[in-house]
Amino acid sequence: MKLFLGIDVGGTNVKVGLVDEKGEIIKKKKYPTAEVNEGGQFVDNFIHIIGKRLKKSPSPIKKVGIGIPGTISVDRSTILEVPNIPTLNGIQLTESLQKAFPEVKFYLENDANAAALGEYYFGEASLPPNFLFITLGTGVGGGAIINGKVFKGGEGNGLEIGHIISSSGQTIEENIGKKGILRSAESKLPLYPGSVLHHIENLDAKAVTNAALEGDPLATEVFREVGKYLGEVIVSTVRILDTKTILVGGGISKTYHLLEAPMKEVIHHYLTPYYTNDLQIEIATLGNNAGILGAASLCK
Ligand code: BGC
Ligand code: NA
Repeated sequence: MKLFLGIDVGGTNVKVGLVDEKGEIIKKKKYPTAEVNEGGQFVDNFIHIIGKRLKKSPSPIKKVGIGIPGTISVDRSTILEVPNIPTLNGIQLTESLQKAFPEVKFYLENDANAAALGEYYFGEASLPPNFLFITLGTGVGGGAIINGKVFKGGEGNGLEIGHIISSSGQTIEENIGKKGILRSAESKLPLYPGSVLHHIENLDAKAVTNAALEGDPLATEVFREVGKYLGEVIVSTVRILDTKTILVGGGISKTYHLLEAPMKEVIHHYLTPYYTNDLQIEIATLGNNAGILGAASLCK
C-alpha cells in the first residue's frame, strides 16, 4: 500500500498525518505552530519534523502534500502571504524541502483548496463535480471543485473568501475568524451579566464555541451573527461560482446548528430561486482530519 504524508500548516498547530491511498490515517501528530516557528526557524524545524516522520514510516514515502493557510506562488513553490502567520511570507518552501529530501516530491497548496480536494476524494458524502468548501477557523478560507478540478483563479489564488467585505464594513475573517468571534463575545459581555463567559479566565474562541454548544445566550448570539456573515459570504460566492453544493468545515463548524437559520435567512433574502433551488449546504465530513487528508489528497 502506498503511503503519503499530509501536512496541514495551521494558525494553531502543524498537523502531520501518515495516510494511505484510501484516505485512512495510519498515524497523526501535531506540533504547536508557535514552536515550529520559534525564532524564525520555521523551515529548519519543518524539515526536522518531516525527516522524523519519513524515518518512522513503515514503507518509504515518495510524496508529501502540504496545506498552507495563505496565498502561494502560481508554480506552488513559494509561500506568498499568510495573514495569520506573517513570518511565513516569502519562504521558498519547496526548494528547501527538495534539497533536504531529494527523493521525495512535495505538493504545496492553499489549505482550503486542499481540504476541498480531500472532501472530494476521501469524504463520506459522494460529492458532485462542482462544489464550494468553506473553512471556519483561525482564518476563513474557501476552496472549490469545479468540473472535478480544484479551482485556482487566474494567478493561483482565487477564492480568498475570508477577505471579502461584509455588511459590517469589515472582512468576513475579521467578523467570524477566531479572533473575530472572541472580539464579538467580549463586546457583548456587559449586555449579558448572566453569561458563563464572565467566569472564564483567558477567554478564547474555543470557550465561546463550547459555551454556545451548551446554550449560553451570549455565545448563542455570537454564533447567530456568525451565521449571518456566513450567509453573506455564501451569497457573494455562489453568485460567482454558481455551485449547488456547499460544505462548511473547520473547527467552528461544530456550531452549524446555531448558524443555520440566520445563514439561510440571508441566503433566501439575497439569492433568487435559480440559485437557491436544490442548494445543499452541509457540514463537511472529514472534520478534524480535513487538513491532513486534504494535504494527502494532493499526492494522489
Ligand atoms: C487565508 C486563506 C486560508 C484561510 C484558512 C485565510 O486567512 O487568507 O488563504 O485558506 O485563512 O486558513
Ligand atoms: Na482557497
